[in-house]
Amino acid sequence: MQKIMLLNGPNLNLLGKREPQIYGYETLSMIEDKVKTYGQKMGFDVACHQDNSEGNLINYIHQAKIDNYLGLIINPGAYSHTSIALHDAIIGTELNTIEVHLSNIHAREEFRHQSYISKVAKAIVCGFGSQGYIMAIQYFIKEQS
Ligand code: DQA
Repeated sequence: MQKIMLLNGPNLNLLGKREPQIYGYETLSMIEDKVKTYGQKMGFDVACHQDNSEGNLINYIHQAKIDNYLGLIINPGAYSHTSIALHDAIIGTELNTIEVHLSNIHAREEFRHQSYISKVAKAIVCGFGSQGYIMAIQYFIKEQS
């Protein structure tokens, strides 16, 4: 079974409690279960990780490459808007990467409009809430067919 890594960045461990009017009431573990189950049904083994540190997120990306993952689904949280290091990790590993945001970052504050990750992602999903992660899995279904 092909492996996909689902990586969530800073503050996404607070989902369900954090600004639910923006990010929804589902917890991260509820979302991860949903994505894992859907992935499994579609023939993918989805490994889920969340970390609040930039360096640890980079280490996970490197590990995904070493372990021959098919691709990466990442919600980099606020690091989207600041992290050249995450941008470089994605280029450096050449992992097929789908960027997901629960909220529509373009309809929010100006500082959220730019993402370093978008420059190196194969596709971007934003504003669909947790459904966006399922849509990211669908990218890999299409790619494999
Ligand atoms: C987010 C959007 C980011 O701007 C924010 O910092 C987050 C969550 C989203 O999923 O909508 O932490 O990535």
